[in-house]
Amino acid sequence: MDRSSTDRQEICAGLLQLPARIAPKYFYDVRGSALFEEITRLPEYYPTRTEAAVMQAHGADILQKVGAGGTVIEFGAGSCEKARGLCRLLRPQRFVAVDISAEFLHESVARLRGEFPGLEVLPLVADLGRVVELPAGLPRERRLLFYPGSSIGNFDPPQALELLTRFRGLMAADGALLIGIDLVKDIAVLEAAYDDAAGVTAAFNLNVLDHVNRLIGSDFEPAGWRHVAFYNVAASRIEMHLEALAATRVSWPGGERRFAAGERIHTENSYKYRLAEFFALLARAGFSRSDAWTDPRDWFAAVLARP
Ligand SMILES: C[S@@+](CC[C@H](N)C(=O)[O-])C[C@H]1O[C@@H](n2cnc3c(N)ncnc32)[C@H](O)[C@@H]1O
Repeated sequence: MDRSSTDRQEICAGLLQLPARIAPKYFYDVRGSALFEEITRLPEYYPTRTEAAVMQAHGADILQKVGAGGTVIEFGAGSCEKARGLCRLLRPQRFVAVDISAEFLHESVARLRGEFPGLEVLPLVADLGRVVELPAGLPRERRLLFYPGSSIGNFDPPQALELLTRFRGLMAADGALLIGIDLVKDIAVLEAAYDDAAGVTAAFNLNVLDHVNRLIGSDFEPAGWRHVAFYNVAASRIEMHLEALAATRVSWPGGERRFAAGERIHTENSYKYRLAEFFALLARAGFSRSDAWTDPRDWFAAVLARP
């Protein structure tokens, strides 16, 4: 089945669930990817700048543990902004940039090639929730898998374990995973990061409806919905939803769904971890040696996990 028909099936099934769901990967059309870049520069959105500061402060340690050269494979590479710093630090021979947002990825990769003329850059459009086939002939030795931005937080714990296990399967004994983890912290700080004063996160969340309209031919009216974000303490996660402002009916070829006023569509979870919990998850996924570096407030961790 091609990507567009699996996407259509997955989205329609999610819209018919109680409560309705749209997976966060559908945020990322070209506009969604650009809005995410805007989010990373917001005063409330601490993860991007905190992770960059941790990587900068501990770059020498990371280099000493993984060594220069080899292959860097970034998952959810987006603008490749974080890859720039890592490529300057590690001077890899090749860089594989994996992302679901095809057009945005190809533009980012073109810019990166211009900046690192000696680096072999291989873009790969793929959905991390499914099996990712790496480019044929990619050396198996000396692979550093890079998964920044705490994107692992978008997966429920069983899926996160499955993804980490698949990451382990993509490397030889000399491989490593460098992964960004957003840590449990003050609720007000967390909620502000997902509901900024300028309304950029709200625009990002609402944009998923336009993207879904294009993917399945539905007739969502984004103006009839509002952005909702809150921290669910029991589940240790930020939840994002879209809430219907009035009773509405949404239809698409082959289906429809009625929503009552106030009914929500669940669009994202972002799990926040305690380091000990995350180390335990890594151990279950087959990583036995893990190091972590955090910022002075312990808000964000860069974790280096090795088999
Ligand atoms: C939160 S952004 C993080 C971007 C960047 N790595 C960073 O740390 O700032 C998530 C990135 O992952 C991509 N993405 C989201 N879901 C994905 C999936 N299921 N498969 C592959 N890429 C995905 C998005 O297109 C986006 O570029």
